[in-house]
Amino acid sequence: MNSFGRFFRVHIFGESHGEGTGICIDGCPEGIPLSLDDFTADLNRRKSGARGTTPRIEADMPEILSGVYRDCTTGAPITILFRNENTRSSDYGRFMAVPRPGHADFSGYKKFNGFNDPRGGGHFSGRITLGIVAAGVVAKKIISPVNIEAVLAKVGGSEDIQAKIEEVLAENDSVGGLIRCRISGLPAGTGNPFFDSVESVLSHILFSIPGVKGVEFGAGFDAANMKGSEHNDSFVSPEGETLTNNAGGINGGISNGNDITVNIAVKPTSSIGREQKTFNFETREMDVLKAGGRHDACIALRIPVIVEAASAIALADLLFAKK
Ligand SMILES: Cc1cc2nc3c(=O)[nH]c(=O)nc-3n(C[C@H](O)[C@H](O)[C@H](O)COP(=O)(O)O)c2cc1C
Repeated sequence: MNSFGRFFRVHIFGESHGEGTGICIDGCPEGIPLSLDDFTADLNRRKSGARGTTPRIEADMPEILSGVYRDCTTGAPITILFRNENTRSSDYGRFMAVPRPGHADFSGYKKFNGFNDPRGGGHFSGRITLGIVAAGVVAKKIISPVNIEAVLAKVGGSEDIQAKIEEVLAENDSVGGLIRCRISGLPAGTGNPFFDSVESVLSHILFSIPGVKGVEFGAGFDAANMKGSEHNDSFVSPEGETLTNNAGGINGGISNGNDITVNIAVKPTSSIGREQKTFNFETREMDVLKAGGRHDACIALRIPVIVEAASAIALADLLFAKK
């Protein structure tokens, strides 16, 4: 549904072109210093404006509606709202009849029997990740000194990110990207075997980020090509430090004290300004669609901070569960 976590629980709400979007955080302990300024750095990292991102610019000003008093959390649910101010809904009218290939117009219509809000992608929009970034700011404080750093490593398979962006912009196309995330300082012994393994919980929330199509830990899919003698990470210290980190810091679903390493594959934006052949569900014939609206040519540019936030939320939940 729209909630994640058991002990540090977040609940997202909103649409791209509705009144606004936000998050409600339950289970945050009292007494954590929290002011509006704390959100600025991470919200700015998610903002559009750079080459290859959408021309839709929003203020993204958080409004804290509950759970904070005199710049400290109170222990009550924290509700954070972001109002939508810069919408242009007329761009989306055609997508009911001619759903965008790769987007959620068709599957969302089927799921909600046509009652879904199609404007700007509605509840499927990347705009809903604003609340995740805001909750991530709170979660990062809770899990400190655990540190999470995510960076965009490649776009379209190339490390020359700017050149690749210019290439697809010139072609009126979009492009995917690879994000590398490293979590350091997570105490050994966090997580569980089976269903609540560190991999399961982290990948559950990472796959919830719109556009994420792949998540791998440590050597990931390369493990399938390796021998045990290559993949095994030998222990080299009493703290459990390992010589290599092919397991990505996780054995049996439980952290082993080494860095958790995660790669995240982000698909190319589905809305593209090029003509695409696709089905018209009104005329019941093949048609040509050129997606209007304002879109990111490369959503991966804006996702590293969302990956950090989502990971922080998952780790806060796992660490509270451990307590
Ligand atoms: C920050 C962010 C911005 C996004 N911007 C766009 C966009 O401008 N156009 C678009 O088609 N998809 C965009 N997406 C991706 C869609 O929301 C996503 O592809 C769609 O909901 C379908 O989900 P899926 O790709 O996970 O299957 C964005 C995602 C994120 C996280």
